[in-house]
Amino acid sequence: MSTAALPTPADLRITPRDRRFARDSLHERLWHGGSVEATAIYNALSTTFPKGEAFFVESVRRFRDGAPPKLTEEIKGFTTQEAIHSREHDAFNRRAVDAGYDLSKLEARVEQRLAVAGARPPIVNVAATMALEHFTAIIAHELLANPKHLEGADKDAAELWRWHACEEIEHKGVAYDTWLHATAHWSRWMRWKVKAKVMLYVTRNFLVDRTHGSLELMRQDGVTGLTAWVRLLSYLWVRPAMFRKIAGAWLKFFLPGFHPWNEDDRHLLRAYDNSAKDLPQPKRKVRRAA
Ligand SMILES: [Fe+2]
Ligand SMILES: [Fe+2]
Repeated sequence: MSTAALPTPADLRITPRDRRFARDSLHERLWHGGSVEATAIYNALSTTFPKGEAFFVESVRRFRDGAPPKLTEEIKGFTTQEAIHSREHDAFNRRAVDAGYDLSKLEARVEQRLAVAGARPPIVNVAATMALEHFTAIIAHELLANPKHLEGADKDAAELWRWHACEEIEHKGVAYDTWLHATAHWSRWMRWKVKAKVMLYVTRNFLVDRTHGSLELMRQDGVTGLTAWVRLLSYLWVRPAMFRKIAGAWLKFFLPGFHPWNEDDRHLLRAYDNSAKDLPQPKRKVRRAA
């Protein structure tokens, strides 16, 4: 596949929305509707973002040389969006710490994974980024498409998650297109083999790490043992079942001809932007990444 025939919509513009969320107000410790397991999984996810998204940016930027002008522009938008996400999740995580959670074990696990990744070739890192960005995009789609996931959550916290989800959808093709650009000289079979292997590897780590991270946070709320497992797994797989709901979209990654924009879900972006137009807008123009 040549990079000239990418299915990323020709009129897509990646526009960073430089928002700040609830800097002055503390949210409740169990900000997600008073639910230990719901708060735990979102807090566990948030703990990965500041360093994880910096890693995504670094991995993609290594392959920007020689990219077509549209992809170069999109990489800039992606970099700026991820940098702002890191900033806001860093603030969100600090509020979790202020509410009494100890995130150190979760952070140590992220650092350990990133240290392993850092020892791998750059092409493997861009492949891991492409796989994790698909993961993020399908979670984001489900989060915006199905209001049940944030039902009962603190208003400001829910705003943060919706905003992040919107931008993840908007830039969902960037890592994938960068991967296609970086492997333009590879055979289709070789590409598929590497991307499938990497997706299976990152999925395993994602499920294991987020489950352990959530159980650790639930332990800090006094929920342990079998009860904790049952409550967490029901939340993730039975109701509202984020992981079960994204399973089909996850599988599509392995189909020949897959591209994140085979599913054009920009209606979710438009709906988000409409719903967020009354939020305070950034005072200054966003400085885009170089
Ligand atoms: Fe992000
Ligand atoms: Fe992203």
